[in-house]
Amino acid sequence: MCGMHITGKIGYFEKLATHILLMSNLKDHGEVAMANGEDGQKIRLTARLPKILGHVVRIAPNELVFSTPQAITDIYSAAIKNHETWVKTSFTDFGTGDGGISWEQDPVKHRKVAKRISPVFSTKSIKAKEHVLQMYVDMFVKRMQEIGGSKEGIELPKASDLLHQRVIATNHKCPLKFLFVPPRILRTLPHVLGINSQEVQRRIDQRANTKHLDYFESLVPPDAPIPTGRELNHLEQIAAQLLVAGYDPVADQFYGLLFWLLKEPDVLATLVEEIRSNLLRYEDIVPDALVSLRYMHACIQESFRMMDTGPNGMPRVSPGAMVDGVYVPKGVECQMSFFAIIRNEKYFRDALSYRPQRWLSPDHPKYETKYSDDMLKAVVPFSTGPRACPGRESAWIQMRLFLAKVLWAFNLELVRGKDITFDRDFSVHTMWNKPSIWVRFIPVERE
Ligand code: HEM
Repeated sequence: MCGMHITGKIGYFEKLATHILLMSNLKDHGEVAMANGEDGQKIRLTARLPKILGHVVRIAPNELVFSTPQAITDIYSAAIKNHETWVKTSFTDFGTGDGGISWEQDPVKHRKVAKRISPVFSTKSIKAKEHVLQMYVDMFVKRMQEIGGSKEGIELPKASDLLHQRVIATNHKCPLKFLFVPPRILRTLPHVLGINSQEVQRRIDQRANTKHLDYFESLVPPDAPIPTGRELNHLEQIAAQLLVAGYDPVADQFYGLLFWLLKEPDVLATLVEEIRSNLLRYEDIVPDALVSLRYMHACIQESFRMMDTGPNGMPRVSPGAMVDGVYVPKGVECQMSFFAIIRNEKYFRDALSYRPQRWLSPDHPKYETKYSDDMLKAVVPFSTGPRACPGRESAWIQMRLFLAKVLWAFNLELVRGKDITFDRDFSVHTMWNKPSIWVRFIPVERE
């Protein structure tokens, strides 16, 4: 989940860990006594809670967790004139004095900033930025051609580090360049904020002289006066949030996709065949040509399903409303356990397995009837309603391009990490902690 991917605040899973949940007088919301989980393993506990307690669980005196698809709609889609009625909690109030976009709690202020920034997420604007995305994916492919075929393989998720310095050194002053900045740097907040302020200042200085469109084009137009004081702080918040929002979930999915594909060789083979038979030349790999690749679409959707993008629960404050048949009084904080939903056999057959075929339509050769009752609409990686992700279209383009170019250019081989399992080796501390695996990127020889 991108809007709140910053450490330092206690989140849902940490709360589960620190509370020994002794729920008395819970009348409607079940009762649980639960000991601390293994470090980083709390997410597994949450997936088990609904089985033990039902679809709503009280995790703190004033906090509930829901785990049904209907609750997603009831909480996140509720709005009056595009203003959310379930407002964000102070979970992401970092004391900066300005909520930017994703941390803004006031729906009216949020709407204002969302409108101001919305032009950069339009299809037209994303199209104009496509070449920047292409450039970075090409850089990755080129680097892997140089070093990715070595016997020991490349360490994921650290492979992206290889591009780090080079990317930073490029002259493209826009948040997209952080596509490949390693998480350990992104998560070092002071360092990130330092870079961020410099970048914002540089971007302001260059406002009449940018090389290409970027996320700041509508915030700092060429003829704008130099922002100072509060406006400068506001811009810095937005830049930092776009940087984090645009980096972490995409990076998780790049990694997740490779991880699942390497674990499922048949799926990988089918996807490779789809890509290579539809795209004869590397130059043919452009976003428009990838939209019709149905198996690729299914693989990406399934990766979203497996690696929940809202692991911190996306907490909201109830305005006093019904959630999936339960009245939640005003002021009670509610969260979603998306992880519990996606691992529930009630909603997904073979819920714990990576099965892209569940996303295919009946006319696809790989379609399997046994998944026809899966509740696909319960997977909402970009959330829904007024606070849904504005970067959705850009994220899809990035993932398709990355997957298509990498699998067109390389045969992948898992060298080390074969024994790694999702259930044992992945964990969540607000963000996903991904284990290291070593992958060979063996260039495909073509005549
Ligand atoms: C795989 C990629 C992505 C996923 C799964 C994803 C997911 C999400 C989710 C679930 C939210 C809602 C958070 C909440 O309500 O607390 C969100 C918000 C947001 N995302 Fe993304 N996101 C992705 C990529 C991007 C990209 C590329 C950008 C562009 C920079 C972006 C910008 C934002 C912003 C600005 C918000 C805050 C929206 C608001 O509060 O109005 N995201 N994202």
